[in-house]
Amino acid sequence: MAAKLGHLAQGAASILCLLIFFAEPSDSGAQARVSGGAGTCISRERDALLSFKAGLLDPAGRLSSWQGEDCCQWAGVRCSSRTGHVVKLDLCNNYVVSSFQGLYKSNSLSLLRNEMSSSLAALQQLRYLDMSYNEFNHTSIPAFMGSLQKLRYLNLSSSGFSGRISSQLSNLSNLKYLDVSGGYNDLHAVDLAWLSRLSLLSYVDMSGVDLLAVRDWFHMVNMLSSLRVLRLANCGLTRTVSATSKSNLTHLQVLDLSSNSFDATLEHNWFFWDLTSLKELHLSHCEWHGPIPEQLANMTSLEVIDFSANDLVGLIPSNLENLCSLKVLNFDDNNIDVSIGEFMDRLPWCSWSTLQKLSMRNTTMTGNLPLEVGALGNLTLLSLGNNKLDGVLVKEHFSGLLNLEYLDLSDNSLKMDIEPSWVPPFRLKHINLESCTVGPRFPEWLRWQTRVDYLLLGNTSLDDVIPDWFWVTFSQASALDASENMLRGSLPSNLQHMSANSIDLGSNNLTGLVPRLFPLNITSLDLSSNSFSGSLPAELKAPQIFMLSLADNKITGTIPSSMCQLTSLARLDLSRNKLTGDVVQCWKESDNSSSVSRANSADQFGSRMYSLRLSNNGLSGEFPKFL
Ligand SMILES: *[C@@H]1O[C@H](CO)[C@@H](O)[C@H](O)[C@H]1NC(C)=O
Ligand SMILES: *[C@@H]1O[C@H](CO)[C@@H](O)[C@H](O)[C@H]1NC(C)=O
Ligand SMILES: *[C@@H]1O[C@H](CO)[C@@H](O)[C@H](O)[C@H]1NC(C)=O
Ligand SMILES: *[C@@H]1O[C@H](CO)[C@@H](O)[C@H](O)[C@H]1NC(C)=O
Ligand SMILES: *[C@@H]1O[C@H](CO)[C@@H](O)[C@H](O)[C@H]1NC(C)=O
Ligand SMILES: *[C@@H]1O[C@H](CO)[C@@H](O)[C@H](O)[C@H]1NC(C)=O
Ligand SMILES: *[C@@H]1O[C@H](CO)[C@@H](O)[C@H](O)[C@H]1NC(C)=O
Ligand SMILES: *[C@@H]1O[C@H](CO)[C@@H](O)[C@H](O)[C@H]1NC(C)=O
Ligand SMILES: *[C@@H]1O[C@H](CO)[C@@H](O)[C@H](O)[C@H]1NC(C)=O
Ligand SMILES: *[C@@H]1O[C@H](CO)[C@@H](O)[C@H](O)[C@H]1NC(C)=O
Ligand SMILES: *[C@@H]1O[C@H](CO)[C@@H](O)[C@H](O)[C@H]1NC(C)=O
Repeated sequence: MAAKLGHLAQGAASILCLLIFFAEPSDSGAQARVSGGAGTCISRERDALLSFKAGLLDPAGRLSSWQGEDCCQWAGVRCSSRTGHVVKLDLCNNYVVSSFQGLYKSNSLSLLRNEMSSSLAALQQLRYLDMSYNEFNHTSIPAFMGSLQKLRYLNLSSSGFSGRISSQLSNLSNLKYLDVSGGYNDLHAVDLAWLSRLSLLSYVDMSGVDLLAVRDWFHMVNMLSSLRVLRLANCGLTRTVSATSKSNLTHLQVLDLSSNSFDATLEHNWFFWDLTSLKELHLSHCEWHGPIPEQLANMTSLEVIDFSANDLVGLIPSNLENLCSLKVLNFDDNNIDVSIGEFMDRLPWCSWSTLQKLSMRNTTMTGNLPLEVGALGNLTLLSLGNNKLDGVLVKEHFSGLLNLEYLDLSDNSLKMDIEPSWVPPFRLKHINLESCTVGPRFPEWLRWQTRVDYLLLGNTSLDDVIPDWFWVTFSQASALDASENMLRGSLPSNLQHMSANSIDLGSNNLTGLVPRLFPLNITSLDLSSNSFSGSLPAELKAPQIFMLSLADNKITGTIPSSMCQLTSLARLDLSRNKLTGDVVQCWKESDNSSSVSRANSADQFGSRMYSLRLSNNGLSGEFPKFL
């Protein structure tokens, strides 16, 4: 069965470099300028940039425009049109957007020597400095940054800095945005007194910075009365502050303290209850236990509550009627242990139309899903998987869910009873009904779900043929799982038009031939434990496939030599079939090649294999030695 797919993870956070425009600096010190085209550039600043560049490795040539007289035209550089001074330097590695680490790395700037050139200290009018997503070789945050006293925006997120953050930044009294977050940094601090002095700060993200040793973090942060966004996720915080501490952060809108080990009850150890302007409260993975406190009721601006992965117990408080802006509720992985009906009764009425995501996966919820759920008209995500829900789902449960995209009802004792003629009001992208009773008929309403990316129908009591429209409706999907059912009939012989990366139809009662043409981008194909017969396709083409299981079928004939072109294969299971003949020639050739030539050719069949099963067939010949 396909792996359970995470969601809500603010994951695919668009990591685009932020553009912020500032008022022009007003000083007009006489400086040597060169004019080139529309801009002007102060030569001393140009020299500083060039000498900074000279200390960098730039394999992708991102700074190739850094030549010629007018530095104001260079990539990432912006000058004041009035004074000509460089006011903005944006070295953010945009390629991180691809989230493909290889590309991120090859586009990173890194250091030629063990220290960053301090020449940038000459850019005294700099207001905006973004160095995010580079690889500055685990050097410490350079001291010269502290001299850039006009800075308002400093982004060192995931830029490969390490070591202690201490007083380097303590003079940046104009700073409004400070971001030193991210897994590619390895930073720590032992005190935050420097931070508390940067009184204009409105945005602080120190997520991932080790603050274990900072005893008074709350006190220091509490001095920053202009804060709007505070992110201290995964900082090793353990200390809570008694609920009597008065918080000063009256403008705070976003608070993220997730992934810290508070190991306390929320009720008595939470200190931000008077944050009435808070819109987002992220407290997941914090080892909170006990009930969900009533004080939540005063936080009437809340839009996002993320309490997932704690040990909270019981209903949400009954006094939340003034929380009228709720958009996202995430209680996944808690021990709520109440009936879903009661829980929904306590959702403030005024937020039923604003709610977009309701996620209660693995919360030991019981009972029948109330029909009213179908009135959550703005819901895009409904995730109730892995609970103890029971009862019958009818079309009225979904009738008003016009905007639903993500539906997870898996691993409950739910039975769907929906007539074949029903046309759903939604176009889902993600459907997970695993281990619910959906069959016996293959659900006809799925026919309209042409935007599906993930379809998980494993173990859903389907006892039917796979309808022809399945291969059309889901041709754009990336994962299809209908394993552990009683599906009958045969598969189309050509699946090349399918976009799927992963198809799992194992443990059904499918017959006929294995498809001749696999989906081109397939990485995982499981057709095991069916009744496929005939011989394997002569021409197997699936350049990215790493898992292929055809075990436990009735396949005859020999293993085709085209199998050896599947160079990405890591797991191949052909056991329990009726294959005959010699173990194929290419496998023998792999044996032959010396270790040197194999090392040279990573793309050789067998080079990535870690599991090969051929047992219970009529095969002969030697077992390939490459294993
Ligand atoms: C810093 O840069 C990262 C990556 O470009 C971005 O995700 C983040 O939002 C930026 N931080 C701020 C405060 O703009
Ligand atoms: C910094 O890292 C880059 C990329 O990993 C490497 O090529 C370079 O030699 C490193 N510089 C120093 C001074 O170690
Ligand atoms: C901060 O500024 C003061 C006074 O301008 C100076 O003496 C000190 O060295 C500066 N500290 C840092 C860390 O740059
Ligand atoms: C609140 O913030 C101000 C500065 O803005 C600071 O002077 C004061 O000490 C802070 N109060 C508390 C209780 O931390
Ligand atoms: C809400 O705030 C009011 C006024 O500050 C306070 O009296 C009341 O106790 C608070 N309610 C809860 C549930 O904390
Ligand atoms: C379910 O939630 C509990 C916490 O209540 C957690 O310990 C457990 O690992 C979760 N199970 C799954 C499958 O995520
Ligand atoms: C539903 O969401 C949209 C977009 O977020 C919003 O514009 C609209 O007002 C919401 N509808 C209701 C009834 O709140
Ligand atoms: C299949 O679903 C039933 C409930 O319908 C459940 O009891 C069983 O554990 C599930 N099997 C698997 C392999 O998940
Ligand atoms: C296969 O993947 C490539 C690259 O991601 C994509 O451009 C192409 O459309 C995919 N092919 C199919 C049939 O989905
Ligand atoms: C699979 O289908 C065959 C007929 O095609 C039938 O004889 C057999 O009983 C079925 N197996 C199961 C487990 O239903
Ligand atoms: C494998 O080895 C045999 C005998 O050692 C030799 O005849 C054959 O050409 C070799 N094949 C390859 C592909 O090197």
